Amino acid sequence: MRGSITIIAAFLWGLGCSAQAADNAAKAQDAPAGGKIYTVVDGNKVDGLTLKGWRTWRAMACERCHGANQEGMVGPSLVDSLKVLTKEQFKTTVLQGRIDKGMPNFSGSQQVVENIDNLYAYLKGRSDGAIKPGRVESMEK
Ligand code: HEC
Repeated sequence: MRGSITIIAAFLWGLGCSAQAADNAAKAQDAPAGGKIYTVVDGNKVDGLTLKGWRTWRAMACERCHGANQEGMVGPSLVDSLKVLTKEQFKTTVLQGRIDKGMPNFSGSQQVVENIDNLYAYLKGRSDGAIKPGRVESMEK
């Protein structure tokens, strides 16, 4: 508990003040170094947090509406959306939903709440074209 507060505090501080703090916060969470959102090797080997994001995507079956490769179905292409949406907009959309427009509210899922940053990291990597469609695995083998 105390650890996570420290991390959040460090993270917020890092956003405002210094890349160094963001870097430290990232390290504390076992995230990619250098303040990167995700790390990927060979298109499908990712850091542990990004892997959790992918698992969350699978567990929630977001592909039912957004397509197995995030290309869009009844819901928009998230490859396109994440080029435009800010991280905050992403979080708000996923956690609050847009019920009237068919996007469910995932705030009731502990897995989504805990992994919202990881989910963003995975989808951002897909949107950037850095992470290939389909299965990903841990880069730490
Ligand atoms: C039942 C279908 C459905 C499921 C399941 C679903 N979505 Fe959506 N989602 C939609 C629809 C429809 C929209 C478009 C809403 C609108 O028109 O503003 C949307 C919009 C979004 C947007 C905003 C896109 C933009 O360009 O504004 C994001 C981000 C998103 N969904 C992420 C997710 C994630 C992550 C999951 C899984 C945790 C998920 N969705 C599961 C139907 C779904």
